[in-house]
Amino acid sequence: MELQGKRIVLGVSGGIAAYKAAELLRLLIKDGATVQVAMTEAATHFVTPVTFQALSGQPVFIDQWDARMANNMAHIDLSRHADVLLVAPASADFLAKVANGLADDLLSTLVLARDCPLLLAPAMNRQMWENPATRRNVATLRADGIAIVGPASGEQACGETGLGRMLEPEEILAELIAHFQPKVLAGKRVLLTAGPTFEAIDPVRGITNLSSGKMGYAIARAAREAGAQVTLVSGPVDLPAPPGVERIAVTSARQMHAAVHRQIAAHAENAADLDVFIAVAAVADYRPATFIAQKIKKAAQAAPPMIELRQNPDILGEVAALPKPPLCVGFAAESENLAAYAENKRRRKGIPLIVGNLIHDGFGGDRNTLILFDDDGQHPLAPDSKLRLARQLVARIATLLEKRR
Ligand code: CTP
Repeated sequence: MELQGKRIVLGVSGGIAAYKAAELLRLLIKDGATVQVAMTEAATHFVTPVTFQALSGQPVFIDQWDARMANNMAHIDLSRHADVLLVAPASADFLAKVANGLADDLLSTLVLARDCPLLLAPAMNRQMWENPATRRNVATLRADGIAIVGPASGEQACGETGLGRMLEPEEILAELIAHFQPKVLAGKRVLLTAGPTFEAIDPVRGITNLSSGKMGYAIARAAREAGAQVTLVSGPVDLPAPPGVERIAVTSARQMHAAVHRQIAAHAENAADLDVFIAVAAVADYRPATFIAQKIKKAAQAAPPMIELRQNPDILGEVAALPKPPLCVGFAAESENLAAYAENKRRRKGIPLIVGNLIHDGFGGDRNTLILFDDDGQHPLAPDSKLRLARQLVARIATLLEKRR
């Protein structure tokens, strides 16, 4: 219920993606929002107002001259108490209208008369999106402080493939939830590792662990929601990349190590140093000394084979030891003595913040219990969803960044 108590005006303009607005509306309501729908006349040719009325439980407004508003001021009243005005889909024509301040129907008038933030989710044919007129309009809208979410690339209703498809309803919902989070990491650059690593023995076998990646992905999402530019170096997991997060997929600890150092070097080259490094990955401490190119056959072995191990580089330890390190955050997953082990690890790695959790509380699930350890002592966070815990961690990181300045 991320949108509990939020009041949203959902504007639907004319385009085939209007059918997806019905699903979006359902998700918004399910997440606790109160939604008032306003449609353009063109949108009613794609989906009938009855659909939106049934899903929102509210009358739908289309006409500027709608007599249902006692003072006949639908264009003002509908958005007066809204927390956000979201137009999905926003057609090329609608973007043009908003960019130029036109107000010739109810929805465009609502947009012009609003006193709340505006989010637009464009949807159009790829050539319309690439047209210089649309490019100009989008630049104007951005300069006016209007948030534009999407469009995505992919197959379009017209049969062409390219940029212009509306984001999926789940993605728009995630953007909207992100919109409401405090921007405590605005403009900061954050790098994370997440998930397990896989250390190959032969082409079909390897050493790995049970890390699901969920905590790391939740932190990546929370950091991005807080306004950071986020890169996630991820071991093999079965999770979609959080919206707006750049993901670099790796398999082994050494690949993860190399990817992290490449990122740090790239930031330094652009004179845009990394602000925060969060090591959430459950990195395998050891790898097989040699990779056996052909599958090991049991018949060929007289005795069970021995696997000789070599130590992997300590990614977090190395980053923390850089001459000008970013703010480094580590994780300590323990099965006992959490406070002692975590604090010890924090000192050994020389990092300002370590996040402790007991393995049976968090591994694989959607919830967790965390304790943050830093110079100010211990900060236990009550059991909660990984995303809400991630938001609390992000807030603590922002406080520590502020202190460091
Ligand atoms: N880490 C890392 N690179 C490694 C190993 C761990 O970056 N090769 C990071 C993890 O992402 C985590 C922290 O270091 O943030 C965990 O510290 P570590 O002492 O390696 O933890 P364990 O492997 O659990 O240590 P131990 O076996 O001593 O419990």
